[in-house]
Amino acid sequence: MFTIITGAQFGDEGKGKIVDMMAEQYDIVARFQGGDNAGHTVVADGKTYKLHLVPSGVLFDSRLLIGPGTVMNPEILMKELSMLADNGVKVTPAKLGIDAKTSIIMPYHIALDTLRESKRAVKIGTTNRGIGFAYIDKVGRDEIQMADIADKKRFVKRLEEIAPQKENAIKEMGGDPNIVRSKIDEYIETGRKLKPYITDVSREINLALKDEKKVLAEGAQGTHLDIIHGTQKFVTSSSTVAGSACAGLGVGPTKVDNVIGVIKAYITRVGEGPLPTEQKNDVGEHLREKGGEFGTTTGRPRRCGWFDLPLAKKSINLNGYTGFALTKLDVLGRLPMLKICTGYELDGKIIDYPPESSDDLARCKPVYTEVKGWDEDISGVETLDGLPDNAKEYIELLEKLMEVHIEYISVGPGRKQTFIK
Ligand code: IMP
Ligand code: MG
Repeated sequence: MFTIITGAQFGDEGKGKIVDMMAEQYDIVARFQGGDNAGHTVVADGKTYKLHLVPSGVLFDSRLLIGPGTVMNPEILMKELSMLADNGVKVTPAKLGIDAKTSIIMPYHIALDTLRESKRAVKIGTTNRGIGFAYIDKVGRDEIQMADIADKKRFVKRLEEIAPQKENAIKEMGGDPNIVRSKIDEYIETGRKLKPYITDVSREINLALKDEKKVLAEGAQGTHLDIIHGTQKFVTSSSTVAGSACAGLGVGPTKVDNVIGVIKAYITRVGEGPLPTEQKNDVGEHLREKGGEFGTTTGRPRRCGWFDLPLAKKSINLNGYTGFALTKLDVLGRLPMLKICTGYELDGKIIDYPPESSDDLARCKPVYTEVKGWDEDISGVETLDGLPDNAKEYIELLEKLMEVHIEYISVGPGRKQTFIK
């Protein structure tokens, strides 16, 4: 069985938590795009783990794979592996596999990302992790791959080929070109340590599927940050939609069984770009404080707003969801009235689907339906029936509007705070 999970909004929908919950039933959990710009918070047995690269299923027995469609900073991975080891979670090569073709994030990618962002008149608000520049090199065929850093000679030769061009680019942007060759020894050492983890992800997954094993593909970021279909230019540099899991892992689309969308009961965005339902007021404050809406990777406060149906509809089209996991429902508690954006007003017309251009989306004025909130603390509720009537109505309304079944409901960050609807 092959299941793909993606974020249906702008990232931080709580994918980590849902993957962690589902991982118990899966033999393999695989990351297919993005890099350490992602941040997953997993809370298990009272411990909080903040992960950027290691797939969220790490706390179960599943095999973890990092696919060739990702970009990987080996220093960050090593840090994560040792953080996990310090917590008694030993991640051996039997547990984790990294594809030989995974693109490596080099120090110059981070330098270029930071320099470029600082010079933009209109900022994107990148995470400064070098993600975009690592993908530029993949497309430009100047990437260094996982298998390269595991082979000292090959790595040094490859870097020699690329270095002068990178030094010039950094100099031109006013940076220090010495960064290009600054960590060669560290990368060689990390490459040596990571060599036993190298694998062929596509082959492993296809063999597992043939054996009727269960494979979960874990998306990073969110649908509207997709490089092709997102709110350009305010997007990340990889494809975040479900189809990207097939391309990024090397699994044919005929193999896909389920596509689960993780969606918050409201919406958040970190970084710049349009967010029509954003609430720069007490409601936004409530969502941010109660929802702990601060970036896992950058610590930046997330922008918060009401549930946006037009964006959800687009997300359903882009991913072909077979079901949803609705997260952070508890965060809405104690707000007397809740709003759901069912359409936008743009140039005097009411539309129920986002316009293609980001500039137009930024001009959209949300049209809302109001529903009554609830005062009860629902963070301990374990069944649909245990929810206050208004919360049930909110879920039913969302389901009716989205025309996709909500399979899971999450009412808090802990492992036990999710139930099947
Ligand atoms: P980049 O991915 O660092 O290039 O950043 C591009 C945009 O994507 C910025 O607006 C980031 O805030 C956003 N972004 C990147 N990764 C995540 C994520 O995991 N969650 C939410 N936003 C993200
Ligand atoms: Mg996140």
